[in-house]
Amino acid sequence: MHIGIIGTGYVGLVTGACFSEFGVSVTCVDRDEQKVKALKKGDIPFYEPGLEELVKRNVAEGRLNFSTKVKDAIESSLAIFIAVGTPPRGDGTADLSYVKEVSEEIARYMDDYKIIVTKSTVPVGTGKKIRKWIKEKMNGNVDFDIASNPEFLREGSAIGDFMRPDRVVIGAESPQAIAIMRDLYRPLYLIETPFVITNIETAELIKYSSNSFLAVKISFINEIANLCDLVGADVHIVARAMGLDKRIGPKFLHPGPGFGGSCFPKDTVALLHLAGERDAELGVVEAAVKANEKQRALMFSRLKEALGDVSGKKVGILGLSFKPNTNDIREAPSLYMIESLLNEGAKVQAYDPVATPDMKAVFPKVSYKKDAYETVKGVDALVLMTEWNQFRNLDLARIKSTMKSPNFFDLRNIYAPDKMKELGFNYYCVGRNSIK
Ligand code: UDX
Repeated sequence: MHIGIIGTGYVGLVTGACFSEFGVSVTCVDRDEQKVKALKKGDIPFYEPGLEELVKRNVAEGRLNFSTKVKDAIESSLAIFIAVGTPPRGDGTADLSYVKEVSEEIARYMDDYKIIVTKSTVPVGTGKKIRKWIKEKMNGNVDFDIASNPEFLREGSAIGDFMRPDRVVIGAESPQAIAIMRDLYRPLYLIETPFVITNIETAELIKYSSNSFLAVKISFINEIANLCDLVGADVHIVARAMGLDKRIGPKFLHPGPGFGGSCFPKDTVALLHLAGERDAELGVVEAAVKANEKQRALMFSRLKEALGDVSGKKVGILGLSFKPNTNDIREAPSLYMIESLLNEGAKVQAYDPVATPDMKAVFPKVSYKKDAYETVKGVDALVLMTEWNQFRNLDLARIKSTMKSPNFFDLRNIYAPDKMKELGFNYYCVGRNSIK
């Protein structure tokens, strides 16, 4: 089978590379010429473990091609995936102008039956809009179907998530489209991945509901963590015991400085809009969003409280990306922390294994260091924002000896409070009796 993928951002590229690994012939299109040129050589514009090898191998074996022309992805493709960006507008609603542009271009070149599949996270009702946009621009009367096939890829482990997903969701209108989509995902069918086959609107809503529910889980445990600090309880033990209840499950109950990334913040707000437009109330999701904003602010106010005043103080930040194994800093809690520190006159020095260039573009005034040890030299406080593996086993005695004051803010709870106190740190974490 031959498929086309429009948009070689995170979702499009991972999807294209993984389908080609399944033996499908894939043409990925992006209008950015430089990007396409680089991709042909196997240069990936972002950090994602395993992706470079996958792209290089499948390009070399001729199954994965890149082009700047939408036409190339349409001719001879049975399915065309739309994976372009749907950035949030000022009011939080998704901007569908790229999706519309691509739909109209697909219409121009469509000469035979095709399925147009949305991979981008799009508001409920977009499938219908795409059908309308295509019909309006189509020459003649070619039969086509629309499908929604949301992705559930986590940055940093996207390839594993694609190859061994918890489920595949397919929303489509006709039995023919469903059969083709199933065929495309045959390798997953063979390893008994559950398939959820439904209508387009349901598939579109599954994506928003899943991400919003996970965001609710995180905000819930963050609020419980803050309560733990006030009553002398340990949130890790609370979360573990909660997670042992199979109805709750252990995942996404890790407290921290708040969720970030390209999905949870954007999708929760978009879902609230969708509900608002229909006068529906989603109070739980609304509360999760508010709790997340408060969590980010709380981390800074705790630091401020510990330092008295941050003006003129030197603060070291370890980890800038919104989570480990990615260079993505979109909505990262570190952005809020650094901005607050700089606004209040602190000097900031920081290190991240891969996200430094991205952060430098946003905060050129921060002093970027080459490793964790350089970052802690002479600081009044150290704030660990992202749980990269290389921060899990730091030489703590060395760190303490070079800090000006031993204020250690472990916002990912990777160290043991007792041990840190024993070593002489003023150790602060999230929900493990750090206040009392
Ligand atoms: C998420 C979804 O998991 C994925 O299915 C979807 O398709 C895209 O959005 P991603 O944004 O890559 O993936 O990261 P994820 O691992 O889900 O983490 C999101 C944020 O929540 C991060 O900031 C992370 O630090 C935070 N988080 C996650 C917590 O604070 N606690 C947790 O227990 C889990």
